[in-house]
Amino acid sequence: MKKKILIIYGLLICTIGGGLKPGAPDPPSIPDSFIVIGHRGASTYAPEHTLVSYELARELGADYIEIDLQMTKDGVLVAMHDQTVDRTTNGVGRVDSHSLEQLKRLDAGSWFNKKFPLHANPSYEFLTVPTLEEVFSYFGKEVNYYIETKSPDKYPQMEEKLLSLLRKYDLINEQKVIIQSFSEKSLKQIFQIEPKIPLIQLLSYQSPAKLTEAEIKKWKQYSVGVGPNYQMIDEAYIKTARRAQLLVHPYTVNSKEELDKLMKWGVTGVFTDLTDSFFEE
Ligand code: G3P
Ligand code: CA
Repeated sequence: MKKKILIIYGLLICTIGGGLKPGAPDPPSIPDSFIVIGHRGASTYAPEHTLVSYELARELGADYIEIDLQMTKDGVLVAMHDQTVDRTTNGVGRVDSHSLEQLKRLDAGSWFNKKFPLHANPSYEFLTVPTLEEVFSYFGKEVNYYIETKSPDKYPQMEEKLLSLLRKYDLINEQKVIIQSFSEKSLKQIFQIEPKIPLIQLLSYQSPAKLTEAEIKKWKQYSVGVGPNYQMIDEAYIKTARRAQLLVHPYTVNSKEELDKLMKWGVTGVFTDLTDSFFEE
C-alpha cells in the first residue's frame, strides 16, 4: 500500500513539475540539413506576423515560417510576438484583454510604415492580426511552420489548442511543424501528448554559453535541439551540441558575416528577419 502511494505521489510530482512520465518515448529524429527560418515571416520587408510577411518569407525561400503565439480574451490563438498590442498595432493593452473581434479591428501594419519608411507600403495599413487557424487555412501544407508557445503559463490550454489545430490541418503526420519554447514545461507537456513533433528548447544566455552533460541529457529527453541567442555561443558550444546529436538553431542572424561564421561552426539552421545582408554573395 505504502509503495503504491509512493508511486502515485511520484507520478503526481512528475506531472505537476512538468516532468516526463517513466518510459516516455524518444523524441523523433529529423533531418539535420541546414534550414532558414523566416523570423516572424520576412519581418524586414513587411509587418511581422501578418500573412503578407509570411507570404514574403515563402517567396524569399525560407524553409520555415516562424510564428509566435499569444491568446485572446476569448481563447483564440493569434500570431503575435508581444503580450501587448501596443508595438505592432494601433491599439493599446494586453492581447488577452481583447476579444478576437476587438483585435481584428486593429491596424497591424501602419506602425511598420512609420518605423521602416524604406520598406513602407500603403497596403500594409489594412493588415490585421491573423489567427493561427487563418495561417493554417491560408498556407495549408505548402509551407513548414516553426511555432513558439509564448508565455504559456499565462494562457490556459495553449498547448492543447495548438495541438488540436495542428491535428485539424493534418500538419503533425505530414511533418510540417517544429515547436519551440523558452518554457521547458510547455515543451514537455507537448511531448507527452504528441511525442512525434520535433521540439526545440529556446535559450536566452546572458553570458558566453557552455553546454553541460546534465543539460544535454535533460534536453535530449524531449527535444531534438536548442535555439540559443547566437551572440553567446561559440564553435565549442556548437560542436558539443552536434556531437550529442542536438540540432542548433540560433536566433536572430541578420548578417552574412555572422551567418557564414555560424555555418562554418556547424549550426543546422538559423532564424533570420531575411535582411538584405543575409542574401549578400
Ligand atoms: O524563436 C526564436 C526567437 O524568435 C526567440 O526570440 O523574442 O524573437 O521570439 P523572440
Ligand atoms: Ca520567436
